[in-house]
Amino acid sequence: MSYYERHVFFCLNQRNNGEASCGDHDAQGAFDHCKSRVKQLGLAGKGGVRVNKAGCLDRCAGGPVAVVYPEAVWYSWVDQSDVDEIVESHLRDGKVVERLVLPESVGR
Ligand code: FES
Repeated sequence: MSYYERHVFFCLNQRNNGEASCGDHDAQGAFDHCKSRVKQLGLAGKGGVRVNKAGCLDRCAGGPVAVVYPEAVWYSWVDQSDVDEIVESHLRDGKVVERLVLPESVGR
């Protein structure tokens, strides 16, 4: 059994050279919101959920992006209610939010 049941990595990379980056889409706000919802719901910690910052995950064209392990499901979202849905459906209940899954073809 793994230490965390689910581990989420949010790209927080910000580019200032005109190229697309997750930081252009309030990635930090989504990360902060996710972290606080996971805590509020009592999901954080050993045997539960860990939410971590990441640098560029090289799928910038789909930004903002995050990836959830062990399922290796990639998400993109529009607002905090989407993040709530990821937290409650996937992180808590183990059900992938299909409508927010990043298409396989999206790269940098
Ligand atoms: S800047 Fe977020 S995946 Fe590259």
